[in-house]
Amino acid sequence: MSVKKIAVLTSGGDSQGMNAAVRAVVRSGLYHGLEVFAVQRGYAGLINDDIREMDLRSVGDIIQRGGTILQSARCKEFMSPEGQQLGADNLRKRGIDGIVVIGGDGSYQGANKLSKLGIKTMGIPGTIDNDIPFTDITIGFDTAVSIVVDAINKLRDTMSSHERSSVVEVMGRHCGDIALYAGLASGAETILVPEVPYDLNEIAARMATNFSQGKRHSIIVVAEGAGKGEDIAAEIMRRNSIEARVTVLGHIQRGGAPTHNDRILASNLGDFAVRKLIEGDSGKSCGIIKGELVATDINTVVNSKKQFNMELYELAKRLSQ
Ligand code: ADP
Ligand code: F6P
Repeated sequence: MSVKKIAVLTSGGDSQGMNAAVRAVVRSGLYHGLEVFAVQRGYAGLINDDIREMDLRSVGDIIQRGGTILQSARCKEFMSPEGQQLGADNLRKRGIDGIVVIGGDGSYQGANKLSKLGIKTMGIPGTIDNDIPFTDITIGFDTAVSIVVDAINKLRDTMSSHERSSVVEVMGRHCGDIALYAGLASGAETILVPEVPYDLNEIAARMATNFSQGKRHSIIVVAEGAGKGEDIAAEIMRRNSIEARVTVLGHIQRGGAPTHNDRILASNLGDFAVRKLIEGDSGKSCGIIKGELVATDINTVVNSKKQFNMELYELAKRLSQ
């Protein structure tokens, strides 16, 4: 067995299902006879030596909870080689030889550094943005999309009553997946994402035509990386006479109970990461591609960009007339 003591941490923007992933890492590690430790507040806890041993009960009653019991942090100090060395030293002094990092692309950069310092490291993609390549889906994305779809269902009711358009701003600084999947699932007329340029004249004209042909509402989903909801609404109202209302969903998208899909994904990936460490593997990102659990070189993952699903985008466009 190549690792005997492992640690787990959650880092960066939290996501629903991180707790389920922590539970899986702890319980799978203990099941396989490892000693398992938890680091509080991501890389900040690594630097401050905020590390405690976990037992089976430490992760009881959390599979259904949003947020992360290990808390998260954005830690500037860990960006420096000195910070990274301190973090690795704090693990080593306890005899911890492996770590599972649950987080997004920034957290993966940190995991990559730990791996290069000789700590056996596995990354698990925990972010609502779905912006990690070499996995079909990240932990939290399914729940976030469900929250947005539920909000749009509600907005649709009141927009129809008043014959208005609704501009819904969703999360996604660099990745339009939340907007795309929620937009398609809720029948939005327009989906604006950072990956695809758009023409507000064309959008305003199409909306006016649709209303003249009997549409009673219009839903525009905009990923935050494609523009501010307020600006989009103002620009569209300037071009047609349809009243628009703006809803910024914000951090509501990051909270609440994870869906069963996120819990199952997190359970699978947590267990897989531990088994990979036991096999002696390191420096990998755990993911799921077409139903298969895969481990991809984390260096490759942090240097690649997630491919935007243009087919789904075109489908949403075709069906939204
Ligand atoms: P996310 O993981 O959700 O993308 P961030 O981008 O904020 O979130 O990254 C989380 C943390 O990961 C940062 O606060 C920092 O501690 C660490 N991190 C990010 N980039 C690097 C890097 N290039 N080298 C080392 N650590 C990094
Ligand atoms: O987790 C990623 C993300 O949800 C982005 O879509 C968003 O821009 C960002 O986090 C905001 O996070 P915070 O408010 O924690 O900086």
